[in-house]
Formats: sequence, C-alpha cells, structure tokens
Amino acid sequence: MSNLARKEPIAEVEAPPMPEVPVLKPAAAPETLAVVKPVPRITIHAFCELPGTGSAIQRAGEDRRLAKAHLAVHMGGIPAAVDQYQQSATPNLIMVETRSMGEELFGQLGALAEVCDAGTKVVVIGHMNDVSLYREMMRQGVNEYLVAPLHPLGVIEAISRLYIDPDAPPIGRTIAFIGAKGGTGSSTIAHNIGWCISTGMDEDVIITDLDLPFGTAGLDFNQDPAQGIADALTAPERLDDVLLDRLLVKCSERLSLFAAPAVLDRDFEMDPESCESVLDVVREGVPCVVVDLPHVWAPWTKKVLLAADEIVITATPDLASLRNAKNILDLTRQARPNDNAAHIVLNQVGMPKRPEIPVKDFAEAVGTDATLVLPFNPGLFGTAANNGQMIEELEPKGKTAEGFRFLARELCGRETRAPKAKAARSSMFSFLSRKG
Ligand SMILES: Nc1ncnc2c1ncn2[C@@H]1O[C@H](COP(=O)(O)OP(=O)(O)O)[C@@H](O)[C@H]1O
Ligand SMILES: [Mg+2]
Repeated sequence: MSNLARKEPIAEVEAPPMPEVPVLKPAAAPETLAVVKPVPRITIHAFCELPGTGSAIQRAGEDRRLAKAHLAVHMGGIPAAVDQYQQSATPNLIMVETRSMGEELFGQLGALAEVCDAGTKVVVIGHMNDVSLYREMMRQGVNEYLVAPLHPLGVIEAISRLYIDPDAPPIGRTIAFIGAKGGTGSSTIAHNIGWCISTGMDEDVIITDLDLPFGTAGLDFNQDPAQGIADALTAPERLDDVLLDRLLVKCSERLSLFAAPAVLDRDFEMDPESCESVLDVVREGVPCVVVDLPHVWAPWTKKVLLAADEIVITATPDLASLRNAKNILDLTRQARPNDNAAHIVLNQVGMPKRPEIPVKDFAEAVGTDATLVLPFNPGLFGTAANNGQMIEELEPKGKTAEGFRFLARELCGRETRAPKAKAARSSMFSFLSRKG
C-alpha cells in the first residue's frame, strides 16, 4: 500500500460534500461471480462496527474462492485495529468498517497508517456512497472503499481485485461430475457433456479423468493414452503448460483428454493439494474443464468437488442413490452458499422390470428437481461405449443428445449449436429435461 504503509501523516481533509447522485458501486450482490481465480494464501483481518458487516465478511471467508486465505473477523472498527497492531505485525489485508466522517475518519485512518507495516493493504467499509470521499481515500493510500451493506460476493470480488493480476489470462470454468453411487453413468455423462461443449459451443475443453485405476475416458473416446494424469499428480510442481500439452490426448480440434492410466500395478496416492495444483494448471489452459470424479469419498474428492464452479450429481432412481444424492446435495448447499446449486441428473430411468422411485418423488425427497432425466437406453449407451463414440455422434437428433445439449447449456449459461436445424422441444423432451 502506498501512503498508509509509509506511515506518513495523513493530511487534514475537510468533510467531503454529499454527492447528488450515488455513483459508487456498492459491494452489493452480483448475481453470481464470473469465474474468479482463487485468492492466494493471504491473511485478512477485519474490524467491523456492525454485526451484519462482520457476518457478510465471515460468509465471504467461507467461500471456496477464499479457501486458501486466512480470515479473522473482529468487532471494534478502526480503533480496535489500531489497538491490536500497536503490539503485533499487520496481516496482508486489513478491512475496517467505519461510520465516522470527515476529520474524525481521516484521523482514525492516520492512526492506522502509523501502525501499518509496508505491504499491508487496507480496505475501508463505509456507509457513505460518496465519490469524493472515495477519491480522497485512494489518495491517502487506502486500497479499496466498499459501501455497506456488504454482500459476501461483493467482498470476494473486491479482495480478488486486489490480489489477482488483472492482466493475467482468465482461467477456465471447472465442472465436476460425481455419481451418487457407482455405475450411475456419471462418467458417461461427463464425457458427453465435455463433447457437447466442445462441439456445440466451440469452446476448448479438457476432460480430466480422476478415476486413476478404472477411468473410462480413454475408452469412451477410443484413445489409448500412454501417459496422462497420473504423471502430473505424482509431481504436480513440475506441471506446466508444456508438460500438460505432452500429457494430453487430443480427441478433436477442441477436446483433449487428461486420461487415467487405468492400470493396477501402480499405487495411486491421491492428495488434495496435488489435485488442486494440477487442476489449477489445467484451467489455465482452456475455458472449460470437465472433472470426472470416481464414486469414492475421500478428502481429495471432497475438496475437488467443493472447489468446482459447477457440480453435476448423477443418480439412478433407487433408494441408495437417493440417500447419497441428498447427502451430497446438502453438503454442497451448506459449503457453497454463494454458488449455483448442484445439478441432479436422474439417469437410467425406466429400466424394464426394475421397481423405481418415481421422478417426482425423487425430486421431492432430495429437495430439487432433476435438471435432466435420461431414460434407460442400453442399446444406445452400449453401442456408444463399445464403439468409443459419443451419443451425439451416434444419434445427433435423438432425445438423449438433445438432453445433453440442454445440460451443457445449463452448465455454461450459453447456447449450443444443434447439429441440424434447431429441434423444437417436443413433449418427450419435457420428460427428458426439467429445470432445477
Ligand atoms: N441412460 C443409460 N442407459 C443405459 N445404460 C447407461 C445409461 N447411462 C450410462 N449407461 C451405462 O452404464 C454404465 C456405467 O456408466 P459409467 O459412466 O461408467 O458410470 P459411473 O461413472 O457412474 O460409474 C456404462 O456401461 C454406460 O454405458
Ligand atoms: Mg465413473
């Protein structure tokens, strides 16, 4: 930080006039954040005056995008901060709330500057939406001024602006797929969605197969990768874009596979941090990363799932799937209050002779409608799997391919290009897809 960190006395400033039209952007609720890079491992201390401000910052701190940062929220505003840093070193970022104005405010900021170490950034949370006040604060070396009431997403956005290089290339959106139990079709759906995004949206996609011993991404795309993600995970610090390029298998112009070795003679120790750093590198390379998770529950799967931008849970209409889907949904809802809810795909519906939980009852029990309901279609899925083809290649105009394009659109918030003239949604389609 500039002036504040240099411990220069802050000049006396008159109380700024109230503006006629509020022009500052309050730290209010952006609908959802565009894909935001995780904030680095910084320490943040907040000193609030109002409990509401404290809880908004606390909630921001619990967000996956601030998972690496350490946050502590205190009450007492600027005086409490000044008091604390008489004795101790200042963290990377201090957030202070104030309802003071004019001389009193700048006096308090001056006192804070006295105890601030070089390199510490300061965000002031005020209650006046006033541009001249904002400018004066910036002039004094304050790094950001936010207007209360705060929304957690506004806080995350402000912190990201301070710590993430605006010139750094954007990172890709991650979409994690997990099955409510084994064999639900989660991987098949993940691969088909990756395919639909790459073909229908002209977006580069990397499918990352994290089922190291048994992953099927290579088979599903008729590829036989020699090496792949296991090499990256054993030495994540060595992974850069050059090595990544060597380890990827290109399936089409826009689709690459980070394939699993699918061998049993190697032991794979999955470590949450290695997965995170490998995925960080992968998402630097493409706008969309499909993460195919196996049906296992371990610290690494939980971490990858909760860190994803979007989540798809694939379930079949039976009791075990229902219970597990509900548990995963509840966990993601609770851990990701600022994110879109996870999507449910109810798959293999209508298997002959199998007693099933009706789609409506399933939705009621898990507390949300399935985004997509796919019928049991062993002929189509079996042929696709055995040929190493995608459903859209086999039956581009079929309901299942249309369902996949629908889910791809839901996940990306964008239109897909249908392979032929736009298929109108038939009555059958209302069975296939429901909006969550
Ligand atoms: N809707 C469906 N109808 C019939 N078979 C399906 C359907 N969806 C997936 N399958 C088949 O189910 C099997 C398991 O799929 P997979 O994607 O490997 O499941 P998971 O990743 O959840 O373990 C595969 O053989 C796949 O072809
Ligand atoms: Mg799988």
